[in-house]
Amino acid sequence: MITLTDKYVIEESVAYILTDKNQINDIHLLKPEIDFANKMFENKSDFIHINSFYKSSFIILAKSDKDFHVRTEEIRHCASKTASILSEIKATTLNIIDLSKDLYSLAFAEAVMLCNYAFNKYFKDKEDKKSSLASIKIVSSRLSAKQIADMEAVVEGVYHARDIVNEPLSFMTAKKLSEEIERLGKQYGFKTEILDKSKIESLKMGGLLAVNRGSVDPPTFSVLSWEPKNALNNNPIVLVGKGLVFDTGGINLKPSGSLETMKCDKSGGATVVGVICALAKSNIPLNVIGLIPATDNRPGNNAYVPEDIITMYDGTTVEISNTDAEGRLILADALAYAKQYKPELVIDLATLTGAAVVALGESVSAIMGNSAEQISQLKDCGFEVWERLVELPLWDDYAEQLKSPVADLKNCGTRWGGAITAGKFLEHFTDYNWVHLDIAGTAFTEKKDSYRGLGGTGVGVRLLFDFLKNKTELIKE
Ligand code: BES
Ligand code: MN
Ligand code: ZN
Repeated sequence: MITLTDKYVIEESVAYILTDKNQINDIHLLKPEIDFANKMFENKSDFIHINSFYKSSFIILAKSDKDFHVRTEEIRHCASKTASILSEIKATTLNIIDLSKDLYSLAFAEAVMLCNYAFNKYFKDKEDKKSSLASIKIVSSRLSAKQIADMEAVVEGVYHARDIVNEPLSFMTAKKLSEEIERLGKQYGFKTEILDKSKIESLKMGGLLAVNRGSVDPPTFSVLSWEPKNALNNNPIVLVGKGLVFDTGGINLKPSGSLETMKCDKSGGATVVGVICALAKSNIPLNVIGLIPATDNRPGNNAYVPEDIITMYDGTTVEISNTDAEGRLILADALAYAKQYKPELVIDLATLTGAAVVALGESVSAIMGNSAEQISQLKDCGFEVWERLVELPLWDDYAEQLKSPVADLKNCGTRWGGAITAGKFLEHFTDYNWVHLDIAGTAFTEKKDSYRGLGGTGVGVRLLFDFLKNKTELIKE
């Protein structure tokens, strides 16, 4: 869908990215159009749309007085406005001409592609809803085909992650999720192994099994392996994703208002799938393993209840104080399972706590962990792709809340510092370099939010792809 070209066809819609108002004189516009643009600049506009019947021209001004990452994010929002207009006029092609020597064309094109996503599967007239935009041409001689291919791979990864998040439980049970993973494994060329309920039982994954007890659908534990021949790392990087296909809260049932959106509780898992698809598609030379424990959390059947004491995969006993703190239970089993890989690094992603949303809102994720170096690199990537991260501390006094009089741990503490106590709980099951991302606020949006879309955002895919790709460059040096 994206191509590099060195010639702009004047009949087609085009977005010009300028860094200086005077550049308006260097582009293909008629005199009255230039006058109009100058007037709009005087009105402090940084996004100008000129409709010339058969095509649209967009003029985007990157304000030079701001931080580069802030400016790039503004450009992505301009791309979102552009995409809305293009969809209204049913344009099929967009050209991008970046007069800043291509500082912004990739981010702009990526954002247009991300806007082009829609979850239309369940509409009767889904064919009519198909986006008309079929081709984006970046008019440039400076970018490489590989840069474009990597960006397309990551967008595809985001699409897969969003698709998984947006599927309701009526379709996407734990088993369906694992089948989807197998299908994508075949398509992209990564290996998959699906542990079924009897295997999970024989492994004694007590956290995953306890959460699953209220469900009529069996749990799954998916293992994804991207192990290219030219991998630069011996010990793999393991990505763990929460695959809670629907979170009712269990016996500690959530009230109306908190249940809606809970199909998003598999977002961490969805992101792991999306990242591994993108790594495979771009042939990134790193050994990466994905682990996705999956089940729904329900009050039915023989559901686990508060005061139960369960034994986790690693033998730790846990007193249940709230069945709605289920994510950490299924993740803990996966984190303990990750030890066998002797991982260089483990990153887990989870829509883990409402407390993270209270603390940071809906546009920033929480990051915690035991490796200052990896956290700092991830935070940098967070600004790069604008999936910003703020670190919360894992100081030991927070673990006081998780002490139980009857078991090794309790599954949750008080309301205070809830995102951190969840992190402390997970930390107990790690003995390697580990980073935890709480994406409860950023994984899902109930109203359209620019290029992040509506519904599942796929947060984490662009972040981790950028992080892992940078790693290959760091190792090569
Ligand atoms: N899946 C939820 C967290 C969540 C909340 C995700 C809002 C997305 C948006 C998680 O399983 C949960 O219920 N957490 C509880 C923990 C509490 C019982 C300690 C919470 O945050 O209320
Ligand atoms: Mn819950
Ligand atoms: Zn949950």
